[in-house]
Parts: sequence; structure tokens; C-alpha cells
Amino acid sequence: MKSEPELKTADWLEVSQRFEPACMNWQAPVVWDHGRGAEIWDVDGKHYFDWTSGVLVTNVGHAHPRLAEAIAGQAGRLLNTFDFPTPERLKLAQKLIERTPPHLDKVIFMTTGAEAMDASLRMARKYSHNFEIIAFWGGFHGRSFGPMSVTGLAKIKKHFGPMVPGTILAPYPYCYRCPFDKCYPDCGLFCLDFLDRVVDTESAGYLAGLIVEPYQGTSGFVFPPKGYLKKLEEWAAKRGLVFILDEVQSCYGRTGKMWALEHENLKPDILCLGKGIGSGAPISAVISTTKIFSALGSGEMSSTMGGNPLCSAGALAVLEIMDEENLVEKAAQNGEILKARLLELMQKFEFIGDVRGIGLVYGVEFVKNRETKEPATDLAREIVVRCVARGLMCGKLGLYGNVMRVAPPLVITPEQIDESVGILEKVLLEM
Ligand SMILES: Cc1ncc(COP(=O)(O)O)c(C=O)c1O
Repeated sequence: MKSEPELKTADWLEVSQRFEPACMNWQAPVVWDHGRGAEIWDVDGKHYFDWTSGVLVTNVGHAHPRLAEAIAGQAGRLLNTFDFPTPERLKLAQKLIERTPPHLDKVIFMTTGAEAMDASLRMARKYSHNFEIIAFWGGFHGRSFGPMSVTGLAKIKKHFGPMVPGTILAPYPYCYRCPFDKCYPDCGLFCLDFLDRVVDTESAGYLAGLIVEPYQGTSGFVFPPKGYLKKLEEWAAKRGLVFILDEVQSCYGRTGKMWALEHENLKPDILCLGKGIGSGAPISAVISTTKIFSALGSGEMSSTMGGNPLCSAGALAVLEIMDEENLVEKAAQNGEILKARLLELMQKFEFIGDVRGIGLVYGVEFVKNRETKEPATDLAREIVVRCVARGLMCGKLGLYGNVMRVAPPLVITPEQIDESVGILEKVLLEM
């Protein structure tokens, strides 16, 4: 047996194969060792630019010294209190409420995105005394049973048996592959009008709420056309539905605004946050109104690790870093540079069918043919493998697994964007 410092990538992958199940998402064969900002080094010392941010988590960059210090300092003081309040949790609660739209005035902390989404579904049910939830084709809200049941991706749910009853799935505006074969803006947002048809045919009269992502992450960074979400919110309000916005992925500057809801001045009844809020410290949040939270009695919602002092201290440091380093503005500015470069590549390479995104989140969709839009899933995989081999850490996702995800930490610099896009371009030239 080799001693630990001698173990290389191949050795670690063997350990993984032996002791870990193969049910996690496919990734190029790299064993990460450490990171700094928007760069990563593997266990062999090889360097990578990062376009993953983990999975849109490390918004303030890898191993930010300030975050590391906050977590280490807190670890030496107090780790867990369950529901007993701590100054760290309370300061975080206050700061988040001060930053979200004024009608939102209460927050409860959880550990994962799925846990927050599950909590939001329970709140919508308890508050409305109903149980039907409208959700969207291609939507993803987590893997525990509540969120999985409102997920609009068959591959996530397949053979897991009956889902939680009450989900009504409706088409989402995936305009590049419009389910109605229409074109925006000529379509007049037909998919929105279609919601009435969905409800009139599917609902048994127990509508509780509607759950939506500002852009669909797992389905391939699918962005709705401008104006859609506001109109959707108005539609939900007319029907008296609890409007749940899943910003687990889109929050904390990812789209060039602190919250994605700012792009359309949305006023959700429940706002769920995750991933970037701790930038690696496992914490999520459900933010809502006193009125909606009042539907829950004492002891009806809490979480063993939710908002523990360790994660709260981390999340507080993340907020400070975001402010001091102007990361939201940087995401918007540097995002423009990244977008322009990706669009140039689309001009150049026929097999890029679509580039979409905003801020520092882009999907590059690979197709076999621009006319038919047949997904080029194998090509996407090959491109990812070659990019990683050349030092660009990236992954793919999407309804058809043919979308490269471009979501670097928000601290990425224009120089790093330039170099990393250069690596992608070299790979595309080989294809
Ligand atoms: C939009 C959205 N909601 C919820 C989740 C679930 O988050 P977690 O994996 O932390 O449970 C994810 C994770 O990818 C997500 O992208």
C-alpha cells in the first residue's frame, strides 16, 4: 500500500470505484486537491481554471481566506445548538431579511437545497389547506421525495415508485426547443396562456401553490424570455397560489444581481436559497412572510444542522466578501466578457446550437445539426473530457446531457476568462 502523499489520481479513482457507489453524476476523471479563487489543483498538482464552482456553490471562490478563517474561528467556539439561537444565526437572519424584498420578513435556515424546497412545499400546503402544486417540465428542485415529486425530469424520478401526490406539471419556456414549436416573441407567450388549459384539465380543485426556478439549472441553463416570470407571478396571484421561487442555484450574484428575482422585480411568497449562500458551508434558507410562517405551529419546522453557528459564521463571511469585493457587479461585468466570447465561438462552430445565460451562468448547447437541433450528447461529453485534460474544469448537464455548463466562481478575472475560453476554443478546433 502506498502512503497517502504518494497516491495519484489513478489510485484515488480506484479507491472511489471500490468504496463509492456509481450513482453520482458523471464527471471527468479528476481528483481535486485544493483550490484558490477560480482555480483548482488536482492530487497530481495539475492546474485547472474552474467553470463549475462545485455545482454553482463556491461563488466567492475556492478557499477564500476570509471564509476559511470565519469557519475555523467558529469551529473552535461552538458548532451546534439545534434551535437555540446564536448571534451568528441571528445576524445572518437580519442581514438576509434586510437584503430581500421588503414584504419578506422571516427566514428559517436548513442545510441543503432539497431540504429548503421540501420545507417550502410543506409551508404552501399548511398555509393554503390545499395540496396541489404547479411545477414545470424540466424543473429540478432536489432529490428527496417532496422536491423530487415537483421535478419535471423523468430521469430523476424513474423507478422510484409513486411520487408525493398533487403535482401538476406544465411546459416551461425552453425557447430553443419550444414544446409548441413556436418562436418568441411572435408566440405571445402561448405557454403562459396554456397554463389555464393545464389547470382546467388537471386540477381536482385543491391548488396550493406554484414552484418555479428563475432559470432551469439542471435542464441545461434554460432561461425564460424576459417578462415571463412576472406574468407567471401575476397569473399565480390571480389564482390565489403561493408563489415559490427556487433560487437555490440562482441566488447570490450568479445572474449579475444579488437575487435573480431582481431582473423582473418578482415578489415571491416564498424564496428558497442554497448553494452560494454558504459558498461551500452547507446552509440553505427559506424566506417568507410572517403571515405564511404563522400557519406553522411551534415545533412544526426545524432542522438539526439548520443555521448552526459554523455555517452561519461562514454565510456571514460570504456576505461580507461579496460586498467588499463587489462580486455582484463583477459577475455582471465579467459576465458580459464571457458571454461575448462564447457567442463568438457559436459563430465559429456549427455544432454549437445555442449559447444562453446572464451574469456568470451560461449553457452551451451542442447539436449534431443546427436545423434539426438533434442533441450531440456524445460530442458534449468528449468536449468536456478534452477540456478537463487541457486544464479547464467543466461539466455537462441538460435534458439531453448535451449542454456544457459555464458557471465559474464570481471572482473570475477577465484574464482568467480569456485563458479559459482559449482552452475551450482549442478543444472545439479539434472536434
Ligand atoms: C434549482 C435547484 N433547486 C434545488 C436543488 C437541490 O439542492 P441540494 O442539492 O443542495 O439539495 C438544486 C441542486 O442542484 C437546484 O439546482
